[in-house]
Amino acid sequence: MNKKTITIIVGIIFLFIGSILVKQNYGEHKSHNSKQVGKTDKYAIQWTPSIQSALRKEMHSITKNYQELVSNLAQGEWNKVVENSHNIHSAFILKQELSEEDMDDLYRILPERFIEMDSKFHDHALKLAMAAQAKDGELASMYSGKMMEGCVSCHQVYAKNRFEGYSNHEKVSHEH
Ligand code: HEC
Repeated sequence: MNKKTITIIVGIIFLFIGSILVKQNYGEHKSHNSKQVGKTDKYAIQWTPSIQSALRKEMHSITKNYQELVSNLAQGEWNKVVENSHNIHSAFILKQELSEEDMDDLYRILPERFIEMDSKFHDHALKLAMAAQAKDGELASMYSGKMMEGCVSCHQVYAKNRFEGYSNHEKVSHEH
């Protein structure tokens, strides 16, 4: 009888502790998802205002050229495709006319992975230009697909705060 009582009391204590732990975990999970801090902040780049404005300008130029490129590629306008991809290639943020101070900031704030993604993206633009020069539509369209993968994979990591559609990417990939 005594032993039974002790077992029950110990059981209740465990249940109590368990429910506190569950509550704590659940609470943390909830605040992580709703505020998008923690994991997201690990990837958030601390842009300075002048670098952010240079980056946004670059993004607009890239978007315009990419849209034209897709249309020109479909029509076999090879010279225009070459021009569009060269424009994208030379819009490399590290090659922008940034002040020396901005350049120092850039090297300080950009994570290695961002630089890798960016250079891969620009490399695909160059390869697309070469394929278009060779009038190889199949190869050119493969690289245009790789470029789109570049937009998506960079935005879903580094532009979550800018694009609502990518703000919950982490969560989605965890659940599936
Ligand atoms: C290596 C990373 C990277 C790649 C590749 C990239 N972007 Fe971006 N882009 C960003 C980041 C970071 C931002 C968010 C900047 C900010 O926070 O204001 C952004 C923002 C943008 C914006 C919004 C600009 C604004 O005014 O706020 C557009 C449009 C855009 N990107 C288009 C594209 C397109 C189209 C492609 C591919 C053809 C592309 N980007 C490829 C990193 C990238």
